[in-house]
Amino acid sequence: MIYADYNGSAPLCREVIDYLKDRLENGPYSNPNAIHHLGQKTKMAMENARAVCAKAVGAKPKQIIFNSGSTEGISQVFFSLLYGKIKSGKNLIFISGIEHAAVINCAKFYSEDQGYEIHVIPTLPNGQCDTEALSKMMKENAGKVAMVAVMAANNETGVVQPYKEIGQICQEAGTPFVCDTTQYIGKTAFNFSESNIDFAFVSGHKVGAMTGAGFILAKDHSQLRPLVIGGGQEKELRGGTQNYIGFETIAVAMDTFEKKKEKIQKLQESRLAFEKKLKEKYPVVIMGDDAPRLGGTTFISYPGIHGQAVQIELETSDIYVTTSSACSDNEPTTSKVLKAMGVTEDVGRGAVRISLGPCSPEDAYDRIYDALIKAYEKLGKIKSY
Ligand SMILES: Cc1ncc(COP(=O)(O)O)c(C=O)c1O
Repeated sequence: MIYADYNGSAPLCREVIDYLKDRLENGPYSNPNAIHHLGQKTKMAMENARAVCAKAVGAKPKQIIFNSGSTEGISQVFFSLLYGKIKSGKNLIFISGIEHAAVINCAKFYSEDQGYEIHVIPTLPNGQCDTEALSKMMKENAGKVAMVAVMAANNETGVVQPYKEIGQICQEAGTPFVCDTTQYIGKTAFNFSESNIDFAFVSGHKVGAMTGAGFILAKDHSQLRPLVIGGGQEKELRGGTQNYIGFETIAVAMDTFEKKKEKIQKLQESRLAFEKKLKEKYPVVIMGDDAPRLGGTTFISYPGIHGQAVQIELETSDIYVTTSSACSDNEPTTSKVLKAMGVTEDVGRGAVRISLGPCSPEDAYDRIYDALIKAYEKLGKIKSY
């Protein structure tokens, strides 16, 4: 079996499984907010996890607000920056055209509910946000932009965005920069203090830790307001008893990054060789081919052969891919991300996302190559559109 949907959810990494076995068996187990000895021990383990996560991403522990993952984090940041603030005269939200539903739908909500105007930053054909266009938009709308949201790496194409440059543009304009780092952190080196980002996000299940645990990275947490009020946990920024074991698994997963660096590098090399071989054999299109991309992501199309047909065919070889992101997988048309890149319908409909990670078998790309050839040969005889 080859699991090739790491961008959907990465499997728990070995170190996390070992940690969990011991942790569940031996504790400490308590409410981390209890003042008895066990509560304090549990709290110490959770605070240690915060410190490990902070070190892994070049942040201070106080800049980490634990939560359930990126969707919640993004919702909280939008709420904090936008709710009830339109009176301040800043009524514009700038977002890129390739954002995840977590960002797009927050922007839509605050547009419909609070009256903000959404402006979409153009995307270059290589899948990167057009920073020149953003600069121009910022100048033309000086003093009116409430926030800019551009992700660090795209979940479908894996294209890495020029987030430091975007952060610089935002800093010069005095505008908060919200960067959805969900697909980036844990897959590539990242340092929050050098990133020019005001708010970033981590989801446990994208980094080999547990689903339902994550955190916000906030340059200045005093800018945040709680979305979940409750009992004042997380410095009154996120109420509710903490999912402390989930947070600990993120720390364990992130702590293995240095060890996995070499594997990620190898993954990148194998991916490039795999893509080259395929391009030599078939008229395939690889999205964001000429842009920097995440080590293990290929979004590939054979125009004329429907992506879903390829997905089903690969599944008969026990290989699990998707046609786009989990949140839009049911749509049999060209994804919004590809449309923003100017990809035509005949190319977009053939797209299949192959996303691997450091725990993938070493020969994964060879096996996927063989299975893809089989699928293309079979499906190519009766083109699906
Ligand atoms: C880029 C991006 N942002 C946000 C999310 C939402 O993360 P979660 O579902 O863990 O809250 C995802 C998950 O697919 C993602 O890929």
